[in-house]
Amino acid sequence: MKRILFILICSVIAAGLQAQDVIIPIFTNDNLMLLQTSRDGRLNTVYFGEPLKNESEYKEVARRYNFRDNNAGIYNATYTTAGTWNLVEPAIEVLQSDGNTSLELKYVSHTQEKTDDNATLTIIKLEDALYQFSVKLFYKTWTDLNVIEQWTEIEHSQSEAVVLKKFASANLFFAGNDFYLTTYGSAWAREMQRNEEKLTRGIKSIDTKLGTRAYLLQSPNFIISFDNKAAENTGSVVLGQLAWSSNFRYVFEIDSYENLRFIAGINPFASEYTLQPGETFKTPSLVYVVSHNGTGEASRNLHRWARDYRVLDGNGERLTLLNNWEATYFDFDEDKITSLFKDAKELGVDLFLLDDGWFANKYPRNSDNAGLGDWEENKKKLPNGIGHLVSEATKEGIKFGIWIEPEMVNPKSELYENHLDWVIRQPERPEKYFRNQLVLDLSNPEVQDFVFGIVDKLFTDSPELAFIKWDCNSVIYNAHSAYLERENIPQTHLYIEYTKGLYNVMERVREKYPDVPIMLCSGGGGRGDYELFKYFTEFWPSDDTDPLERVYMQWNYSYFFPSIVTDCHVTDWSDLPLKYRVDVASMGKLGFDIVAHELSENDMQFAKEAVQNYDAFKDVVWHGDMYRLVDPYKNDFAALMYVNDNKSRAVVFNYLVNFRYMLTASILPVKFAGLDSDKKYALKELNVYPGHRSWIDSEKTYSGDFLMNVGINPNINLRNMSVILEVNEVK
Ligand code: GLA
Repeated sequence: MKRILFILICSVIAAGLQAQDVIIPIFTNDNLMLLQTSRDGRLNTVYFGEPLKNESEYKEVARRYNFRDNNAGIYNATYTTAGTWNLVEPAIEVLQSDGNTSLELKYVSHTQEKTDDNATLTIIKLEDALYQFSVKLFYKTWTDLNVIEQWTEIEHSQSEAVVLKKFASANLFFAGNDFYLTTYGSAWAREMQRNEEKLTRGIKSIDTKLGTRAYLLQSPNFIISFDNKAAENTGSVVLGQLAWSSNFRYVFEIDSYENLRFIAGINPFASEYTLQPGETFKTPSLVYVVSHNGTGEASRNLHRWARDYRVLDGNGERLTLLNNWEATYFDFDEDKITSLFKDAKELGVDLFLLDDGWFANKYPRNSDNAGLGDWEENKKKLPNGIGHLVSEATKEGIKFGIWIEPEMVNPKSELYENHLDWVIRQPERPEKYFRNQLVLDLSNPEVQDFVFGIVDKLFTDSPELAFIKWDCNSVIYNAHSAYLERENIPQTHLYIEYTKGLYNVMERVREKYPDVPIMLCSGGGGRGDYELFKYFTEFWPSDDTDPLERVYMQWNYSYFFPSIVTDCHVTDWSDLPLKYRVDVASMGKLGFDIVAHELSENDMQFAKEAVQNYDAFKDVVWHGDMYRLVDPYKNDFAALMYVNDNKSRAVVFNYLVNFRYMLTASILPVKFAGLDSDKKYALKELNVYPGHRSWIDSEKTYSGDFLMNVGINPNINLRNMSVILEVNEVK
């Protein structure tokens, strides 16, 4: 394989040139960020916007601004320091080894190189003239996709340790404008609730302090839009996420000139980091996509980036499944489970997923208050072990997957009794539980071995195991590590070391088991993050599977994640018809969590056909481009479509979201998008419920031009609550 192609190096040593001459363009096809040194050698962000045609004019940009009064000259610093004359939010704050609190970073050098045909890496070195302390800023740009990944490395060579009090991944600057911010608040089963606001003078900050995940109360996903609210096909937007699986903090500061300063990184809360001489502190990445044509294009590019460069097996296949969680909860035995294999077979899904409750003997896992941590099969429920289930499933012609929650422990468990020092807890304070459990201390290498060992044993015992659902239900309370105490490492390293410990385990898991699909589950969407997607194939967006609420939730997640990673299960959480539930789940990776053999004859026939239809169109949904067509927040229904690369096939999903009596939701036709206007297409309605007739004339053909400018009315109403249309090119 062709390795790194070194095309362009421009290393400029400040000594050789006037410092103010250094201009660093961070460019993608449709965007340009210009960084430039000031007369005194600081690095500033002087431009962010559509590319400038003439490189020779780059040097003119900074001169247009009069940010002169007093400390305003520092507002646009590319990595804002604290402790000198800065009065705005810093990106970095340190306590030097001699106790001094000041830091001043000046430009030293930079390199820019193509890492392959599609990506360029810019590395900029900044240094303090007084203290031996340096920062490297990294910008990796995927030119065609307008995706930027930004992170920072911090080092020093002072004789004693330096304390990092704040250490942002990215410090962005957008010159004066109106700025709108979309963020997503939530609670369990209410994930991704959209909130859009105009930013006004002062600081708006979004953060979490959960320890084991980024998300429960506030999501790390954000959209910044310029001038107007975020729109699907117009306007400039920056859309992204900090790729970090723990506490994060975003600061959006509108300064006194109405500029937006955006600082993103690990939450400094309780996380002062003692950096030893020669040690490098690498921050997580801020991943964002820029578009000057609205959120639709931004999402499509981010999805493609995710599939091509980030998600494990992002362009591969996924397994449809039947999960037993809501069908049995903890109440099952071998016979019950093996009988459910028949349901999976009947439905036509690829895999049966055995959920929680299969393990622990001294304190059997019959509810969520015991057994977690004791990962031997429960002998009463499963006398012949997991291996037997795997071979029974195989006989039935389906694959077998299993649920684990390896980072957690119930106090009622042998693990807790034997390894109290592996548990995160304040030794002198009463324990406080989250879902009756505590978190294991992944900063401790022995605990990392234990967690790796759980996965390793499952695969060693049952090599045909085809899927893992990796759960993580608790947050960290009473953050304290016996291991860090023993090792004389400050307790304020715990959140960071926990997260790095998790990444270490996943590196080991993937080294040994590179391919097996693993789902990220975290009591909902807590772990939908672009760092863990290096190791995982998909995520569970929410325990809330009410299909109506899911329409909104999946709509909101769709800004950030491609369908192939978004697991959507059909359950009994709602009384809405099975068709509506299945149609909503079919816009992601389809699964079922129902008692299939209790379905009515019609429902079963429908479900089987729907799985077959899904198998036939999943390639378009998983690997195609997504277009959001009708916004459920502004209309009585939602519509989205997926189009394959050569625009020969598409699938359009339409869902009623307002159940008002006699309502005709789709008054106007839905204008399709992403097709070829010169191609001819035929439409076919899929997932038609037994006994119903589709009004779609599948004999008729339409030009792409017609479908995109006039559109088709899916006739969404109370009797026709969801409509899936397949669009096929006719030659
Ligand atoms: C979490 C998951 C559920 C299920 C249970 C099992 O709540 O989100 O899907 O796996 O754990 O305890």
